[in-house]
Amino acid sequence: MEQKAIAVLTSGGDAPGMNAAVRAVVRAGINKGMKVYGVYRGYNGLLNNDIEEMNLRSVSDIIGNGGTMLYTARSTEFPKPEGIQKAADFCRSKGISGVVVIGGDGSFRGARKLTNAGINCIGVPGTIDNDIACSEYTVGFDTAMNTAIQMVDRIRDTAQSHDRCSIVEVMGRHCGDIALQTGIATGATAILVPEIEYNIERDVIARIINTQKTGKKHFIVVVAEGVGGVEDLAKYVEQRLGIETRATVLGHVQRGGSPTLRDRVVASEMGFKAVELLDQNIGNRVVVMREGKIVDLDINEALDMKRVFDEDLYNIAMSISI
Ligand code: F6P
Repeated sequence: MEQKAIAVLTSGGDAPGMNAAVRAVVRAGINKGMKVYGVYRGYNGLLNNDIEEMNLRSVSDIIGNGGTMLYTARSTEFPKPEGIQKAADFCRSKGISGVVVIGGDGSFRGARKLTNAGINCIGVPGTIDNDIACSEYTVGFDTAMNTAIQMVDRIRDTAQSHDRCSIVEVMGRHCGDIALQTGIATGATAILVPEIEYNIERDVIARIINTQKTGKKHFIVVVAEGVGGVEDLAKYVEQRLGIETRATVLGHVQRGGSPTLRDRVVASEMGFKAVELLDQNIGNRVVVMREGKIVDLDINEALDMKRVFDEDLYNIAMSISI
């Protein structure tokens, strides 16, 4: 019987833990007797013949590294019908019957198209944003938040020393999860997320005034990227309350760094599961976390799901950050 060949790629924004997932795919595939190719720079690697056969040592010592050893890209050519056809033909020419796609839901839409063109694809959620509705967890989220809380703790030191207010914007695209959890973990007086309608007077100014009354003189406000406008908000708070206020956009610092234990372990489990599915010639699935377990779902069903924001956690934050 001909040796089965699969490939693995990372696509979209990089996330800490992607390397751990790549490592798991390569090792699990080789363990099952497969040939495993690493595809460079996302789907572009399938269009430009930018792939390399991996061996057990190709993925040595990467589990603790941030970024992705396969590089990543948001391909503009691939999602077009000609791009999909070209990528599928390329896979066939190399004998590649399945591809593990590590990325966000944009990458999963590409995986669905490639599966429909005859190459089985399995999605693994890799993004710091935790914005994939079908999964409770995305690889990279924990590391990004741990970086964010370290940064906000540092900002707090200086805000405290100057009796200032600091407004900090964290990443997350349209998702407020990084802001919510970072806000709770750093004791932010106010947290603004795109999922909850807010009113600056009620949700920022009044909360600061109430906290001030109990003797507090420095304040942290965490704002999700999907809300934005931190410079204007800082000016408003300063004028309105007479408290010196500074704005910080944390930015890409949150995307880098060595993955946490959680990201390494979840990525390893998800990568392994993806290979099990390809081994059974199953495609069009995504590997997800549901009720804490690693399971797989149909990609269409997964992409149709709507995210549910954790309002209970938000309410807890609002009632204790006072
Ligand atoms: O999806 C991850 C993410 O870091 C988002 O939080 C952010 O909106 C976006 O990517 C930034 O993308 P880029 O690195 O292309 O500026």
